[in-house]
Amino acid sequence: MRLHQANHPLISHKLTELRKKNTSSATFRLLTEELVTLLAYEASRDLRTDEVVVETPVAEYTGKTTSLPLPLIVPILRAGLGMLNGMSKLMPNAEVGFLGMLRNEETLEPVTYAERLPEDLTGRQCYVLDPMLATGGSLSAAIEYLFRRGASDVIAICLIAAPEGVARIERDHPNGNVTVVVGEVDSHLNEKGYIVPGLGDAGDRLYGTAGPLD
Ligand code: PRP
Ligand code: URA
Repeated sequence: MRLHQANHPLISHKLTELRKKNTSSATFRLLTEELVTLLAYEASRDLRTDEVVVETPVAEYTGKTTSLPLPLIVPILRAGLGMLNGMSKLMPNAEVGFLGMLRNEETLEPVTYAERLPEDLTGRQCYVLDPMLATGGSLSAAIEYLFRRGASDVIAICLIAAPEGVARIERDHPNGNVTVVVGEVDSHLNEKGYIVPGLGDAGDRLYGTAGPLD
């Protein structure tokens, strides 16, 4: 696994706003979309392209176009959905597949409740979107899913990670065909599996169903 941690003042500024407990859902959604756009720049560094010849008004030009098979964007429901718009604006010709995963609050193990992916992902670069990498259980299972269907590379974009989650992905997926691009790596997980300091429950904060955190 390759880890890329963004080290950029604009990303830090936006993450700080996102973390504030009084940030409204509307602002949270906007910031999430902006952050994924910034992180996607690094995440798409190894996007496969082919040469293409086009005519400018002045001359012939040999440029680049996204290779086939097209990349696949995979938001992990629910929270990853908040990142989809930003990502597909940058990669408008990518296809989109969905994985619905919910972490069991007792065991912290992920449960897959929905899957809408192409059967055959042979040779495809898959961009997984999930704002939070906590224990790493959900992302690790998603990566396994995609490789079982034939994906060639998985690039995960997360806003905030815990060191425990990063270590889990490293352990479960040691090969170079997994890349994790993350805004910031926080201190640790608490006893409930929440990232500290983190931002709370990303899905609840995006969709406005947050109750008090006890
Ligand atoms: C959150 C988050 C990740 C997962 C991370 O989703 O969006 O998918 O938890 O935790 P892990 O690294 O310990 O697996 P959650 O299960 O809360 O579902 P939601 O997106 O529907 O809120
Ligand atoms: N999922 C979240 O949404 N937040 C955390 O801190 C951990 C898992």
